[in-house]
Amino acid sequence: MAYRLDTEVLYQGTTPQGIIRNPETPAIYPASAYILDDMEDYVFADKGGRYYYNRSANPNRDELGAAISFLEKGEKTLICSSGMAAISTVLLSLLQSGDHVVMSKAIYGETIELAQMILPGFGIEVSFADFTDPEAVRKAVQKNTKMFYTEIIANPLTLVTDLEAVTAIAREKGILTVVDSTFTTPFVYRPLEHGADLVLHSMTKYFGGHSDITGGCVTASAELIDRIYPKYLLLGCCLDPVSSWMTLRSVKTMSMRVRAQNQNAMLIARALAQDPHVKAVYHPSLPEHPHHELASRMFDTDYGYGAMLSFRLEDDHEKVAVFMKHLKLICYLGTLGGIRTTFTHPRTAFVNNFSGEELDRMGLAEGLVRISVGAEDSRDLIADLLQALAAMDA
Ligand SMILES: Cc1ncc(COP(=O)(O)O)c(C=O)c1O
Repeated sequence: MAYRLDTEVLYQGTTPQGIIRNPETPAIYPASAYILDDMEDYVFADKGGRYYYNRSANPNRDELGAAISFLEKGEKTLICSSGMAAISTVLLSLLQSGDHVVMSKAIYGETIELAQMILPGFGIEVSFADFTDPEAVRKAVQKNTKMFYTEIIANPLTLVTDLEAVTAIAREKGILTVVDSTFTTPFVYRPLEHGADLVLHSMTKYFGGHSDITGGCVTASAELIDRIYPKYLLLGCCLDPVSSWMTLRSVKTMSMRVRAQNQNAMLIARALAQDPHVKAVYHPSLPEHPHHELASRMFDTDYGYGAMLSFRLEDDHEKVAVFMKHLKLICYLGTLGGIRTTFTHPRTAFVNNFSGEELDRMGLAEGLVRISVGAEDSRDLIADLLQALAAMDA
């Protein structure tokens, strides 16, 4: 039957299935929904039997999830629209009114805000503890504690959590351990192999790697992911198919990027430690770092100690500004984990969210500068930093 032009055009341009054979890269499936054959298919689809609606499942998210489950040695992965979406979905799915969570004091600032602004409204109690001291974590446990939440390398002072010591306490007391492993990446450390129940990442950082996607992921046992999934679906925080495809593409070069970036970070940390303008350098690769030995035991140091480092200049806002203005290659950017080296001034980033005393307690001194090291030639990066430090004397 002949249809009119405006009807017919909607059925043109479908994939020429007969022509495409074994493409080297996966296809992108942007469809928001899939055609079902029978009424019963809907019931089957709803149970995860086939694709039928993008928010419930999508092939690009599933392909990415399979790759991340493999890297993190977990059974299943949920792909979320941002790191914060991953974090909020996990907390709101696994905790309920009357529960208590012990969180590390040294975690991402917006995770702290989420815990302070949103969880109490749902009747969830939150305490903060120093996760670099397992006894402090043990002391924070209450009868209703259901979860420990920590990062491995803390931002921005790069303190390292001894995860096995923390998960030993968690196991003893029947508490779940959730780890945000964004800074570590699965090449350096895989929390599920060290007693954690769930690992999550902001994929906006090293998974994406090129500062062009925003995403998050959550990996755990099938049992735990199946508990989270119904809320993930209802909260509606799935990542779009194109970003999922782009992230899978980036995952394929992630080991090379992470290795090069982490190696550069070690060289930069050493160079900065020798400059008289620098009062302290915070990177676990340095023998003088308080957790160097712990990190050397925990990490696959073939990949290094992470590509995030901080250093402290004089606590003089004007002088820090002079240093920043003189950097030619390294630019000021509000993210991290990209292929190019960038910096932030952590105190300024959180000045609107926390009081001066809170910022001091968090170790965010005026003179503190954080660098996310990229994959440029380390000699160019070191020369740029040293000339900007020298400019502070003028
Ligand atoms: C350690 C860590 N976790 C989570 C997040 C949040 O990720 P997103 O910005 O993708 O929501 C960030 C962002 O910087 C982060 O550094």
